[in-house]
Amino acid sequence: MKRHLSPSILAADLMNLENDVHAVEAAGADYLHFDVMDGVFVPAISFGMPLFTLLRKKTKLFLDLHLMIVEPERYIGEFASLGADMITVHYEACRDAEQVIEQIHSYGKKAGMALKPATAPGEIRRLLPKLDMVLPMTVEPGFGGQEVLPECLDKVRTLREWIDREAPHCDVEVDGGVRADNLKQILSCGANVIVAGSAVFKGDVRGNAEELLAILNNT
Ligand code: DX5
Ligand code: ZN
Repeated sequence: MKRHLSPSILAADLMNLENDVHAVEAAGADYLHFDVMDGVFVPAISFGMPLFTLLRKKTKLFLDLHLMIVEPERYIGEFASLGADMITVHYEACRDAEQVIEQIHSYGKKAGMALKPATAPGEIRRLLPKLDMVLPMTVEPGFGGQEVLPECLDKVRTLREWIDREAPHCDVEVDGGVRADNLKQILSCGANVIVAGSAVFKGDVRGNAEELLAILNNT
């Protein structure tokens, strides 16, 4: 399956966002990850529609939206009309996950489902054939710059096994703590969409993204 690097702009220099985005484009990244946090589903508040609108005007990259918010169904229509390409909601935040997936698809967008570290993958197994992507979080959602929780990698392996058998069109994304020195291991667990915040945007942005892409393309 095709692999994608999805740099998370949570770690970008927001005063220089356009330059940072151009740097990851120049490196060859094809996705961009946008974290919306509401201060309720997770403790932090990040950013929302105004920044998303500006970003959409500045890039043609595939916008991979990660909604860490309660009642995601209230905002799917607006983010879809603003140009999100993939909308990922948290299973724990959905009253009716199946309906939320249908809602995302009704706007012609790809649907992803994220799981907090404590949520068992079995909870969403029945949804895999309907999903375009599953995101077993490798850290507690809410903050960038954390370390991968090793037990979460078992979930990545389990989901990849199920997907290969039952829903081969579905991608497996990982988000949280990915760096050049653990990327090979994460890929070997079966992830094919790789989010990286600090590992891309701290320091030489283009060089960092190129280094991660080289591992992605040669492993
Ligand atoms: C965390 C966010 C991540 C975050 C990852 O809750 O969902 O997308 O930006 O940051 P790093 O790659 O620094 O762990
Ligand atoms: Zn994220």
